[in-house]
Amino acid sequence: MEDITIVRHPLIQAKLTKLRDRTTERLQFRVILEELTALMVYEITRGFPVEQVSVQTPLEECEGVELAKPVVLVPILRAGIVMLDGVLSLIPNARVGHIGMFRDPVSLQPVDYYTKLPPNLAEALVIVVDPMLATGGTAVHAVSTVKQRGAIDIRFLCLVASPEGVASFRKTHSDVPMYTAALDRELDTHGYILPGLGDAGDRLFGT
Ligand code: URA
Repeated sequence: MEDITIVRHPLIQAKLTKLRDRTTERLQFRVILEELTALMVYEITRGFPVEQVSVQTPLEECEGVELAKPVVLVPILRAGIVMLDGVLSLIPNARVGHIGMFRDPVSLQPVDYYTKLPPNLAEALVIVVDPMLATGGTAVHAVSTVKQRGAIDIRFLCLVASPEGVASFRKTHSDVPMYTAALDRELDTHGYILPGLGDAGDRLFGT
């Protein structure tokens, strides 16, 4: 499996550029992040399995499709929560789990504070979302958590990734396809992605 799929659609790249711009204010930042997530989801769902169904049009019976598996979204709190609405705009009946984690500012290790996941993850297609894949610690831990609860078919979706984060994720979860809008240059000494877009949570929530 390739390390990470970078989605280079022009609309995605233009919206990402707006997110990177330090002059983009909170309201606009939130709206664009949601729109960008929806566009990413449109791209990454291309290969999702479907099954045949038939419907009755006003005129006659017609063959069509529906998604073969229920979708479960798992945003990593807190910044992942804003991606949720972007995904739900395209897959409105998805079930939603939450994983609350923060990065200890000294050790840069993930610290769990909340986990609530839907049942029957083994039958679902699980999409774990977090805007930033920095050290990778949080994403690795979140995907390990959904695996422990039975998930098998998992995708990881972020918007900006670092090479360090991708390498760390791949070491533990070589079976999980990863998608991003950008693979940036490197991490700084505080674990921020360069050039990145700053602290996504702070820019979303004004903290
Ligand atoms: N989290 C963020 O919000 N931004 C980074 O650059 C790294 C982690």
